Order: sequence, then structure tokens, then C-alpha cells
Amino acid sequence: KPSLHERAAKKGLIYGAAVRTDILKSDAKYAATVIENCRMLVPEWEMKWAAGNVKLRPSPDKFDFAPADWLANFATSHDLLLRGHTLVWHRSLPSWFKEKANSKNAVELLKNHINTVVKRYAGKIHSWDVVNEVMLPKDGRSDGLRISPWLELLGQNYIELAFRLTSAADPNALLVYNEYDLDYDNRQQEAKRIAVLKLLERLRTKGTPIHALGIQAHLSPGDNQFNAKKLRKFLQDVASLGLKIMITELDVVDKKLPFDIQTRDRIIAGVYEDYLSTVLDERAVIAVLTWGLSDRYSWLNEFEPRSDKAPVRPLPYDTYMQRKLAWNAIARAF
Ligand code: XIL
Repeated sequence: KPSLHERAAKKGLIYGAAVRTDILKSDAKYAATVIENCRMLVPEWEMKWAAGNVKLRPSPDKFDFAPADWLANFATSHDLLLRGHTLVWHRSLPSWFKEKANSKNAVELLKNHINTVVKRYAGKIHSWDVVNEVMLPKDGRSDGLRISPWLELLGQNYIELAFRLTSAADPNALLVYNEYDLDYDNRQQEAKRIAVLKLLERLRTKGTPIHALGIQAHLSPGDNQFNAKKLRKFLQDVASLGLKIMITELDVVDKKLPFDIQTRDRIIAGVYEDYLSTVLDERAVIAVLTWGLSDRYSWLNEFEPRSDKAPVRPLPYDTYMQRKLAWNAIARAF
């Protein structure tokens, strides 16, 4: 059967997944499954400031590029596209950041990080998640921005600055604002969609070099209403700003779903089917990436564990690297 990226390509779409250098090095079957199904990769840890056991930024004046370089070479050697994730985020900051970053050195810290990292991979990166998760209307600001270390250090124009610095460092990369909690029909996510559109309009009006909205799409059935019409309207509004759309971290939080595996897999496949059949109607959508490929390595085991402690089952492949109903649902949606 054609693999996921081959089916996606038939609709002019790119399919890919988040991967990790340590896993690709240690698990040959996983690496083979990644190569078989993916046209694009995104590092789960390696291009953040510091995540998991990877420290891209061990200190204010040091970079450790080894894990990210290995991944970039892996992508190049298998002719895979590579996303950069993520230059400016309030999480995955190194332990020294809190005590070493201040309003006097913050611009230089940001400039040095973006110039050093983006220039190193310039020409090898399909798209950069320049900023990640910057909107949070419930923080109460009139502009809806999340109150974060970057906002406090640099002020409200830090987002535009980050895009301009990245554009100067790699004029060929698609520049993306990546965000979560945009998928469902409730007051909070409706407010966030409105705030995101306003931010995108502001950035576009200022001529900021931004090319796409990244929708993380960590889907959580069981406590959210899915309204296809409202989601499609949001995508149309984003596209009408002249922006592309990438589904950047697709997976399904299954902690509220029944224990029974057959039941759970069927519900999860249905969630993928409903969501993708809606978003793939929007021509501005150019790529779909799942946040991982196998349940064996899903971040949700740590970040959204089930109360019955059963291993989560969000992804296209199970822990034995066997295709699941989720695989079929994603394949059918392309
Ligand atoms: C997560 C990784 O999967 C974890 O392993 C890590 O400890 C924390 O970050 N939104 C994002 C991703 O943009 O970078 C996050 O990845 C998941 C939520």
C-alpha cells in the first residue's frame, strides 16, 4: 500500500512527523518506518533552546549543534524536507535563562540565537516555527498576548523582531507562527482564534515576513465539541490574509477515552477522519505532520497520561511498529 507521504503527495500535500535523534539512532525499525512514511521531519527536541536530554544552548555563549546536525544530515541523506522548531518559546528554555537573560541583553541574546541557529541550517530548512504559543487571551492583555519571559524582556514587538531576524538569516525558509488550542468550538478557543487572526492581521499590515500559521492540532475528544463549519471559517480567514497553513503536531489525547483498545482505536481514527476531512478542504493547507509516528515514543505518555496508566494510543503506529486504524484514517483523508 502506498505510504502516508505518497498518499499525501497525490493531493499536493506534504506528510511528515516529529522525530528525535536519539530514537532514530537506537531504533532501526522506527527509523525505517519514518523513512517509509515521511516526506518531512521536524525535531522534537534538537532545535529548541534545551529539551529532553538535548542542550542546544548549554550556556549564554555556547551552542551544541551535534544532535541537530545529525538530524539535518539524516534528512538530507534520505532526501527528506526538514522543519525548524522552535526559535522563540516560553518553554524548553535552559536553566541559565532565568538568571542570565535581562532587559539589557535580551535583544542581543535573541539576535545571536536566531542568527547562529538559522544561518547554520539556511537552505536546508523548509519552514521555521519562528515563534511558538504566543497568544493566551486568558492572560488578560488587550492584545491577547501570552505573558512570557520573552514578552517581559522585549515588549510586545518581540514577535515581529523574531520574524525579521529569521527572514534576514534565511530568506528561503517559510516563516511560521505555531499555535495550539485553535481546533474546537468553545468560548476559550473561539477567543483564541479571534486573537490569532488579529495578530496575523497586525503582522501582515506591518509587512512582517510571515508566511504561514502552524496549527499544532493536539486533538482532545471527550471534553471538546468539534464544529467543522467554524474551523473551516477560521482556516478561510487565515488563508484570506495570504497565509499558508500547516498542521504541525497532529495527535489525539486519549486519556478521556475508554480503556478497551479496539474501542479507543476506532474513536481515535474517527477523530483523525473528521478533523482532516475538514482541514484538507482548505487549499491553503500545505502540510500535515503528526507529533511522532509510533505510540512507543509519544510525548502524551508523559504529558497527558491516562489515569488507568494504560499506554496511550494516539499515533499511526503502535508500540510494535504495526499500522493502526489511525494510519488508515490519515491515509484515507489524503
Ligand atoms: C514537547 C515534546 O514532545 C516533549 O518531549 C518536551 O519535553 C516538551 O515539548 N507543543 C510544542 C512542542 O510546540 O514543542 C511540544 O513538544 C508539545 C507541545
